[in-house]
Amino acid sequence: MKVLVIGNGGREHAIAWRIAQSAQVSDVFVAPGNGGTALDPLLKNVAITNLDELAAFAKKEGIDLTVVGPEAPLAAGVVDLFREQGLAVFGPTKAAAQLESSKDFAKAFMVRHNIPTSAYATFTLPEEAHAYINEQGAPIVVKADGLAAGKGVVVAQTLQEAHDAVDAMLGDGSLGAAGARVVIEGFLAGEEASFIVMCDGKNVLPMATSQDHKRQLDNDQGPNTGGMGAYSPAPIVSDRLHERIMQEVIYPTIQGMEKDGITFTGFLYAGLMIDDGNDEERSIKVLEFNCRMGDPETQPIMMRLQGDYADTLLKAAQGKLDQASISWDPRTALGVVMASYNYPGTPRTGDVITGIPAAQKECVTFHAGSTLQDNQLLTSGGRVLCVTALGDTVQQARETAYATVKQIKFDGQQYRSDIAWRALK
Ligand code: GLY
Repeated sequence: MKVLVIGNGGREHAIAWRIAQSAQVSDVFVAPGNGGTALDPLLKNVAITNLDELAAFAKKEGIDLTVVGPEAPLAAGVVDLFREQGLAVFGPTKAAAQLESSKDFAKAFMVRHNIPTSAYATFTLPEEAHAYINEQGAPIVVKADGLAAGKGVVVAQTLQEAHDAVDAMLGDGSLGAAGARVVIEGFLAGEEASFIVMCDGKNVLPMATSQDHKRQLDNDQGPNTGGMGAYSPAPIVSDRLHERIMQEVIYPTIQGMEKDGITFTGFLYAGLMIDDGNDEERSIKVLEFNCRMGDPETQPIMMRLQGDYADTLLKAAQGKLDQASISWDPRTALGVVMASYNYPGTPRTGDVITGIPAAQKECVTFHAGSTLQDNQLLTSGGRVLCVTALGDTVQQARETAYATVKQIKFDGQQYRSDIAWRALK
């Protein structure tokens, strides 16, 4: 079986790495891939990003299954394009991907189908947005409606921060078309969890739970990032909460999309906020939907995934997820993101990376913003690596991951030293 993974991040490296371990897989292509996928002897980078060219490549190579990692090609309709050409692909259609590509679409959908989320309003005119903020008070959340590569959410602690975010997005056009419309929503307190399922249009298969660390600095300080580390499982998601999340969020979402005439296939990622209390009563609210796996959540999830994942993905693409099984290593997996100088601002690139040890059963370094040039690994993006380790305990996984992090060198490197602090509390 030949598989194509679309994307170039740590998520795609981890998915491709896991797929390549399947006995029935002969080739795994990653388009365009990164320095880590270039170095992995079981993976082959393909320097294509144009969607029509990717479909032509998949036809020419006889690709049996394509898995799409990031949101941008999904929002641009890569799944629709591949299906029109008779190619097996796992991901949501362009219409279904609106759950992520338009925050206004997602909020209206949740309200329509009674899926728990915070109150909101959507604006294109700055004066109306400012008036709403003054009426609601702070803290308050300002979100760009469209895809903004992790830069579209401002959790404003003060009215001034919220007004500044509106001025930047609606006034100055800081995020271009993505920020030409903003969703302003109520701030939610509690503990976040990432709850991701696979869906084939009818059947739903939950992935292991996880939690990421969105702030740049230790103790959840500093600006939001795409994610500075993650671990799985998320201890907050007890068996009872798992059941409630499926009943209160996941099934109503899949069924709601169907009622709206949109069949959902692909990964559905519900970013949740869970408040305090006992598991029967605590509120579970949706912060956001994504139509893909999380990054860096995927890296620890793939470390724990057991069995033939290529087979599971193929069955998912064929609408036979009810015939697939998935099991999880009971140990904890924990990933530490190593980022470039100045991330999450414009990252410096071109720094030489050294000291990455060979992958081991208990610790794998997944690459994201790295590139291989003349046999030298260089930084090429904000989040460069995600060092991911398994351990019998959270503490052990953490020690293994940080022992590897300390061996890896590149100028300007930054990472958090407290990944999984909540799980250790
Ligand atoms: N780690 C958050 C995300 O993938 O959206």
